[in-house]
Amino acid sequence: MPGFETIGEEEKEAVAGVFEKGGVLYRYGLDVKRQHIYRVDEFEKKIAEKVGGKYCHCVCNGTAALKIALHALGVKPGDEVITQSFTFVATVEAILELGAKPVITEVDKSLNMDPFDLEKRITKKTKVIIPVHMAGVSAKMDEIMKISKEHKICVLEDSAQALGGIYKGKHLGTIGDVGIYSLDIGKIITMGEGGVLVTDDKNIYLRAREYSDHGHEYNPNVPRGEDTRSSWGFNYKITELQGAVGLAQLNKLDFILKRQRENKKSLKEKLESIDDIEFREIPDEKGDAGDTLIFFLENKDKAKKLAKKLSERGIGTKNLPDAVDWHFAGTWSHIFSSYNEYKEKNLEEVWKQSTGLIRRAIAIPIMVKMDEEQINNISESIEWILNNI
Ligand SMILES: Cc1ncc(COP(=O)(O)O)c(C=O)c1O
Repeated sequence: MPGFETIGEEEKEAVAGVFEKGGVLYRYGLDVKRQHIYRVDEFEKKIAEKVGGKYCHCVCNGTAALKIALHALGVKPGDEVITQSFTFVATVEAILELGAKPVITEVDKSLNMDPFDLEKRITKKTKVIIPVHMAGVSAKMDEIMKISKEHKICVLEDSAQALGGIYKGKHLGTIGDVGIYSLDIGKIITMGEGGVLVTDDKNIYLRAREYSDHGHEYNPNVPRGEDTRSSWGFNYKITELQGAVGLAQLNKLDFILKRQRENKKSLKEKLESIDDIEFREIPDEKGDAGDTLIFFLENKDKAKKLAKKLSERGIGTKNLPDAVDWHFAGTWSHIFSSYNEYKEKNLEEVWKQSTGLIRRAIAIPIMVKMDEEQINNISESIEWILNNI
């Protein structure tokens, strides 16, 4: 799974380096004191190169990156923004923060946006579509991009959980108009907290940068204190300490992805012979970032029992089912009860297709440092429990 497993001497040295080279923790200014070293800038350049995006902007977390991206795409109060029923609640919170209305699609067996359902939910008010690449696996981007183009609607890819994942040769996050990654503690690489926005569109990039820094236009002809502005923004900046850790982590990304993919393949092969298990559909298997293995059981009851028995053996699940309440719109009455059409409704019935999949899904986290013995323990435990419940 995540970068936190690989935090070590390299990150420690990178942080010490910030203090050794002037100790400027702020990402801008004090050029001489910092010996002209700008770690966040360097991180942005490197991550853009890595994923093949033209412009990259780094902010304090992935939730902020989503909000900033929506703002940069022109979302205003009253607009509708479509996303999917299985995501982290942050995707919907970002929509709400701009006063827009979240419209939720079903997920299909990929556990990502169901393109058939997406088309049905588009209205004249739809401003942006946010497919989410959950747990390192791409959404069906060919179908989603086709629909978005036909209706002339922008696409923001929530790739918070999918840095390094690929769909048909392109990095997740670089297929739509703009993409975001999260670098929080549970992600493929981490800065503790961090968010990245990537786009090929200069205007989106400039609007995002301004909004995340009080409207600063970064006018090269004047010092920062006299900077020009044409709109107001907010403060979503990130520090050099995070930039330093991010650079050290980015150097490990290829290793992390390789280990995750190998470990996931090994576990999947061992589980393949179990009849009770149906694996999640993966639109581009080779591009899967590999940080989670998800499968469906016959029914909700079996899934609940398996998760409980695995937990008794010290084997945890990742979000399904342990943190399903934070990841499934069918449980978010605190958000949807304020809309007339959902009032008094059982939300699990509203997104029935998703409920039917999510409630019988088990997600096993794939660790970078898993060894063969641990993989065997997980597969043998799953097999034994399924034969005995
Ligand atoms: C799908 C998804 N979107 C957005 C976010 C928000 O990222 P952050 O925790 O960096 O704010 C997360 C974090 O878990 C996520 O999983």
